[in-house]
Amino acid sequence: MTVYKPDQAQSLRDMIDNTPSRSMKLITVASGKGGVGKSSVAVNLAIALSQLGMRILIVDADFGLANVDVMLGVSPEHNLGNLIRGEKTLSQIIQESHNGIRFISGGSGVYELLRMDENQIQTILQSLMTLRDPADIILFDMGAGIHDNIVRMVVESSETIVITTPEPTAILDAYALIKTVLQIAPEHPMRLVMNKSDTLREAETVAEGFRRIVKQNLKVDIPLLGCVLYDAEMSYSIKRQTPLIIMQPNGPTARDIMVIARNLLDLPTPPKMNRLASLFAKLLG
Ligand SMILES: Nc1ncnc2c1ncn2[C@@H]1O[C@H](COP(=O)(O)OP(=O)(O)O)[C@@H](O)[C@H]1O
Ligand SMILES: [Mg+2]
Repeated sequence: MTVYKPDQAQSLRDMIDNTPSRSMKLITVASGKGGVGKSSVAVNLAIALSQLGMRILIVDADFGLANVDVMLGVSPEHNLGNLIRGEKTLSQIIQESHNGIRFISGGSGVYELLRMDENQIQTILQSLMTLRDPADIILFDMGAGIHDNIVRMVVESSETIVITTPEPTAILDAYALIKTVLQIAPEHPMRLVMNKSDTLREAETVAEGFRRIVKQNLKVDIPLLGCVLYDAEMSYSIKRQTPLIIMQPNGPTARDIMVIARNLLDLPTPPKMNRLASLFAKLLG
């Protein structure tokens, strides 16, 4: 395992702070465990944020395993592999998708991407920072685990959304990720999304317990950004290659995701409609 020096992350953060598109935020969506819903949340969140007026670029950073393109239902002609081989420019590998969100494919089975070194990652991040048509938020859908490349990108982002489910295995892996990140970047901002809970109560109880343990042991606060309840339609939407927030814009998951998007932007969340009010809203279109 190579040793990652915190000062390298600092140099990129300095550059981000001094860039003309200073308001551009790099948000990594990460987890310890795989299959907890990073890509599902990232894709739906990207659309929710664009519905709130943000210019969004989503980068599939689960290198070598293309997920986001399948979920968005797009077949990218080029990917990050073409960029690091110098075959294409950044603007040539960017594609448009739903709601005007832009998207960069991580490429499927692209061997070089899995072996990217420090400099190659820096080059990609730096070219994203100088996009001619800048985004307000660049969302990175990360791979699972706490490998060097993942932690490197996480500490270089502006903020990380840590996704977990209430299962103890997912919780332990989220804890391991947070601990590893803090060893390198003690101030790195992270917030939690509790996915696939059966009830809101379960999600909030587990998140509260997790927050307490992290505070006790790691001396940092990891606030809850939001919860997405288990929704069988999520799997159906992936099969349909249409994000659930587009398939069912008034469904429970769309609402959960919209709350997360608003919290991320520090916007107030509208009060919850009661059942009668939402029935009327539906009837009136
Ligand atoms: N809120 C949810 N409710 C039900 N199933 C979900 C939910 N979020 C994700 N899933 C399912 O979990 C599986 C893994 O999701 P994915 O987003 O690919 O996870 P990751 O990117 O973390 O590996 C998929 O089959 C997806 O349909
Ligand atoms: Mg994924």
